[in-house]
Amino acid sequence: MKLMEQIWKMAQNNIQRIVLPEGEEERTLLACEKIKENALAEVILIGNKERIISKAEKLNANITDIRIIDPNKSDKIDSYVNEFYELRKSKGMTLEKAAVIVRDPMYFATMMLKLNDADGMVSGAIHTTGDLLRPGLQIIKNAPGVSVVSSFFIMLIPKCDYGQGGVLVFSDCAVNPNPNAEQLASIAIATAETAKNLCEIEVPRIALLSFSTMGSADHELVEKVRKATEIAKKARPDLKIDGELQLDAAIDQKVADQKAPGSEVAGKANVLIFPDLQSGNIGYKLVQRFARAEAIGPVCQGFAKPINDLSRGCSSDDIVNVVAVTSVQAQKIKK
Ligand code: ACO
Repeated sequence: MKLMEQIWKMAQNNIQRIVLPEGEEERTLLACEKIKENALAEVILIGNKERIISKAEKLNANITDIRIIDPNKSDKIDSYVNEFYELRKSKGMTLEKAAVIVRDPMYFATMMLKLNDADGMVSGAIHTTGDLLRPGLQIIKNAPGVSVVSSFFIMLIPKCDYGQGGVLVFSDCAVNPNPNAEQLASIAIATAETAKNLCEIEVPRIALLSFSTMGSADHELVEKVRKATEIAKKARPDLKIDGELQLDAAIDQKVADQKAPGSEVAGKANVLIFPDLQSGNIGYKLVQRFARAEAIGPVCQGFAKPINDLSRGCSSDDIVNVVAVTSVQAQKIKK
């Protein structure tokens, strides 16, 4: 069974409540119809009810029975405002400011997640990654034991033998602009767990990428990756982690035999950890465009509750898939 079909099946087995703060956005409304038809999640739309219903009618999207919440008319608004104020008062938040901020659909949806009125959140069709992440980082925060929230892409590459039959996990391509060695190690470990739990990669082989392989170059940028590899290996000796590796040495056995002989990861990597956001973001887009790969994500990892971003160029099918992934993350977090 294909990976996305497996994720759909998992989502259908235990329905989760996923809040979509961009309730008035057209691709979101079309996605809602498909999510409902396929019983993937119980979605909750945030926005003005009349506008949402009239847009859905124009699109011929059946959103009957889907819950719509307008922050300005919600009976929960006072409790959300008070809770947000309590959470952020040490950072200078006032009740007056909180009353304005929480009426913003992104913050309102995040408060729903915080106060267990939803199990997951998906947004980003019209907002930037930062617009989505900031409320998440301020309100939901990282899961215990995780030092940074980061993101990953599941790359499904057609006609490709690299990784696990063309399936690879890339991280971090969307959140941390310049992680230090400790943060990079934490990203590598979190991505290994994701590869196992969500992508059904039985043995994650995690390569920390660089422009150097095993000491072939010396530079402070390489030193960061080397240090991150050491930290990650020490923290999780049970995982197959290696670095620093150039991309070709990480995925191609012939190159690995020459440049990194004896490595359990080199030549067989199925999880690629990029040293910073420039390389990660450019890297996934190169593979997506040149190899015509499907890039599922960016999916966030490390939040105490699942929050996921969409690309502003996303299709309604992308939204459906990210909702399914978010549901599965919510199930795993509850376990
Ligand atoms: N993990 C956990 N907490 C974090 C993280 C993180 N990775 N980053 C920031 N925080 C926390 C801070 O500690 C702070 O907490 P506090 O307010 O309780 O003290 C809070 O989040 C806000 O931190 P700031 O540093 O003020 O937040 P900033 O304004 O820098 O925003 C953000 C953080 C949004 C993640 C920023 O780093 C960012 O914009 N990243 C890049 C996003 C992006 O543009 N991606 C590329 C496009 S995506 C694509 O192409 C698919």
